[in-house]
Amino acid sequence: MRLENKVAIITGAAGGMGRAAALLFAEEGAKVAVVDLQESTAQGTVDEIRAAGGTAIAIGADVSDTQDVARIVERTVAELGLPTVLYNNAGVDLEAKLPMHKVTEDVFDKTVAVNLKGPWLLMKAVTAPMTEAGGGSIINTGSIAGLKAASTPAYSASKGGLLAMTRSAAAELGQYGIRVNGLNPGATMTPMARQQEAELRARGIEFPPEGEVSKQFSPLGRFGTSEDIARAAVFLASDESSYVTGADFNIDGGMNILTSVSTHD
Ligand SMILES: NC(=O)c1ccc[n+]([C@@H]2O[C@H](COP(=O)([O-])OP(=O)(O)OC[C@H]3O[C@@H](n4cnc5c(N)ncnc54)[C@H](O)[C@@H]3O)[C@@H](O)[C@H]2O)c1
Repeated sequence: MRLENKVAIITGAAGGMGRAAALLFAEEGAKVAVVDLQESTAQGTVDEIRAAGGTAIAIGADVSDTQDVARIVERTVAELGLPTVLYNNAGVDLEAKLPMHKVTEDVFDKTVAVNLKGPWLLMKAVTAPMTEAGGGSIINTGSIAGLKAASTPAYSASKGGLLAMTRSAAAELGQYGIRVNGLNPGATMTPMARQQEAELRARGIEFPPEGEVSKQFSPLGRFGTSEDIARAAVFLASDESSYVTGADFNIDGGMNILTSVSTHD
């Protein structure tokens, strides 16, 4: 098993990519803290892991809240052991299809709080226990929108900022044996993507249906799945990537290399 003896904190793991990662990490031998705002749904992920013979706990928490973050780390240490993997996956893409002049300041603040400050709080909080454990791996979920004009200015800034923070943290934390890398999903079929698709349709804008994704949108002609992203996360969490830090990986079916990646009207 590729993650034997690892203790992983995965945020946003009630659904979408986080849930898929939690299931795969546990299958590969990691003990998993399944963190999400939606505690009862997070418990559903934990029940699935336990039913398959794995070890996991559910923690209801807001990653943008300092006290919640302290509780995530305390419970993980007490119930699973010192964390050796932190997967900052939780994120929001609010009012994703509105033009910038209609987006409120609250939406900007919340986007940055969850997508950028949350990972910073968690990286801060795990540094000491991860160092005590002898090192570890931090994975930050960016986005193609952090590289290209593929979403709103607020979301793009939060994800681009997170990629910059990933490089800076990698430079600082390497001395403790902690690696920090980014994962940039392209359009991936999760509850977040389905909600955006529904919002577009409600406004009369056609979104390419699955199975009919234009080669102009993705060279591989399909959307990503949560499992596509989870497999890349396993690599970064495992010792297979022990010489990889400060990098970010586009897991996007080649979407970012095309000239027209914008899903924002
Ligand atoms: N789906 C895509 O196409 C896509 C593309 C690029 C990047 N991403 C990023 O990938 C990550 C996962 O996205 P997804 O599509 O699986 O999203 P999702 O909305 O399906 O799942 C995100 C989970 O995060 C949780 N969450 C939200 N705010 C939280 C908070 N403050 N504290 C704790 N948990 C919180 C939600 O409850 C939810 O369970 C996000 O960071 C997202 O920005 C998604």
